[in-house]
Amino acid sequence: MPTAAAPLDIAFARRLPKIELHAHLTGSISRECLHDIWELKRVQDPSLQLEDPLVAIPPGKVDYDINTFFPLFSSYIYKLCNDIASIKHSTKAVLSDFQSDGVVYLELRTTPRAIPDQNITKDLYVKTVISLLKEHNEDQSNAMRVFLILSIDRRNTATEAEEVIDLAIKYRSAGVVGIDLCGDPARGDVRIFTGAFARAKAVGIKVTLHFAEIAESATDEELHTLLSWQPNRLGHVIHVSDEMQKAIIRQNIGVELCLSCNVHAKMIAGSYPDHHFGTWRHSSVPVVLCTDDVGVFCSPLSKEYHLAIKHFDLDKGQLKELCERAIGSIFSGINEQSRLNMIYSEWEGWVT
Ligand code: IMP
Ligand code: ZN
Repeated sequence: MPTAAAPLDIAFARRLPKIELHAHLTGSISRECLHDIWELKRVQDPSLQLEDPLVAIPPGKVDYDINTFFPLFSSYIYKLCNDIASIKHSTKAVLSDFQSDGVVYLELRTTPRAIPDQNITKDLYVKTVISLLKEHNEDQSNAMRVFLILSIDRRNTATEAEEVIDLAIKYRSAGVVGIDLCGDPARGDVRIFTGAFARAKAVGIKVTLHFAEIAESATDEELHTLLSWQPNRLGHVIHVSDEMQKAIIRQNIGVELCLSCNVHAKMIAGSYPDHHFGTWRHSSVPVVLCTDDVGVFCSPLSKEYHLAIKHFDLDKGQLKELCERAIGSIFSGINEQSRLNMIYSEWEGWVT
């Protein structure tokens, strides 16, 4: 007698092998991990002035919007994760969280950060993170493989952006696979980064860009400048005209879509059923569900898949097609593409 197919519930979404391509390292640190770091620091320095993370970022609070989200990093999390020990502790915890959620391939991104009073240069920051990624990948008991994308912040100067490209080139053979443009979309003039992104593309480094996150960063001029850099993938892709959508489809650019982040931060009008995932999933481009900042919005990738299944009525066949379509847009190359194709073709969850 045939067994009844398992329901597409949250347990199914956890078991589903998942690809995560848009996750900011510092934004992916859980409140619990921040709290552990805070406790460890307090033991070392009882006069520590920083508030408990569970007070500063209350558990369950996810309604951070464009005005409250960015200051959370500059005024709190960066002050807590400000030495090699806390960078190592949090990076390991982030990798473990993604892996236990069923992520099999992760491209983590981070903005190189200098911490002068700890003698940490941007180079040392990147070197530290990448050594942990390497350690993770070399442990054969880990089912997830992880690669690094370096972010240029919109508030960076052109010289700082060039420094990020230098670091990407330097650490390319160690696992840096791409460059990102991120940061407060209400800030900065993206045109100053044209040279830096051109240099990255010229040496074959892949490019992903935060794109049309808010109306102010979605002017025709800005979006045409960003598309002229020939990005390989785009994040968010919210405020785009039909003409812009057509250009993205023509160039077959992958889109990284973040349901909960966009809903909680009120970046889209309405709620989950109104999310533009509903439009993009019917397009021909690679569409990848991503978390963005799971530490802040508290929705792991399994939950994002479950939300998509629920609100867009996806069946197993549609999910499989979506997962397999995303493989072509990963930055690390043919070996990982083959591994992921194998994982999806052999996964017994499609038929049980
Ligand atoms: P980090 O780069 O590992 O330090 O991760 C945190 C940083 O990522 C923040 O300070 C922001 O600059 C950036 N970031 C996180 N989420 C977003 C987003 O949704 N849009 C743009 N930038 C973001
Ligand atoms: Zn992002």
